[in-house]
Amino acid sequence: MDGNGRWAQARGLPRTEGHRRGVEALRRTVRAASDLGVSYLTIFSFSTENWRRPAMEVSFLLALFKRFVRNDLAELHASNVRVRMIGDRDGTPADIRELIDQAEALTRDNTALTLIIAFNYGARDEIMRATNRLLADRLAKGDDTPVTAAEISACLDTGDFPDPDLVIRTSGEVRLSNFLMWQAAYSELVFTPVLWPDFDHGALESAIAEFRMRDRRFGGLAQKSV
Ligand code: FPP
Repeated sequence: MDGNGRWAQARGLPRTEGHRRGVEALRRTVRAASDLGVSYLTIFSFSTENWRRPAMEVSFLLALFKRFVRNDLAELHASNVRVRMIGDRDGTPADIRELIDQAEALTRDNTALTLIIAFNYGARDEIMRATNRLLADRLAKGDDTPVTAAEISACLDTGDFPDPDLVIRTSGEVRLSNFLMWQAAYSELVFTPVLWPDFDHGALESAIAEFRMRDRRFGGLAQKSV
């Protein structure tokens, strides 16, 4: 959800206004994803590196996040959306962790869209935590067999979810910035100049249309060459 700050600055507004409008774009996108039949939507809401921002912006983002969960949870639940979190829970402020626990518990049996909120998330941190869990498990069992890719996948925060088919980055930036680096090995990447506060149903639909044009080979050969 990139480009909030630039959206605001271009209008002579404080960066925080961009984040506030970013939440509206998030609401639109969740509705659009449901309408378009998307099964899993992962949003990068706060990274392990975002703590480096000025204290005032960090506290604004945390407050916005709490307000979003408090205000929108009932509607998400009514829309049959299942909410899950990925990221470092232990390093997440207790009040946010509790809100996320509540959201996950309330929506656990919902069957439409799964909304995965990446909060205090960084792919390197996730891979490191998974590695340490696997290592501790191996050591406890005195097991010296090599770790498999399937074990790593299962041990990541996303262990219950499929790999993403499509990763969309807004605001013209062309990098992954520590997002789902293991899981996105064969994802299709779509980079759009749209700033996050302007993202909407049409922008999601065009990204999906671009995805549908791609020839996915997963390292193999195109179907017609076989
Ligand atoms: C990146 O834009 C955006 C963020 C670091 C925060 C995204 C958060 C929200 C939209 C709101 C809080 C989250 C939820 C789930 C309610 P940027 O500020 O880096 O933009 P810039 O690159 O233009 O400066």
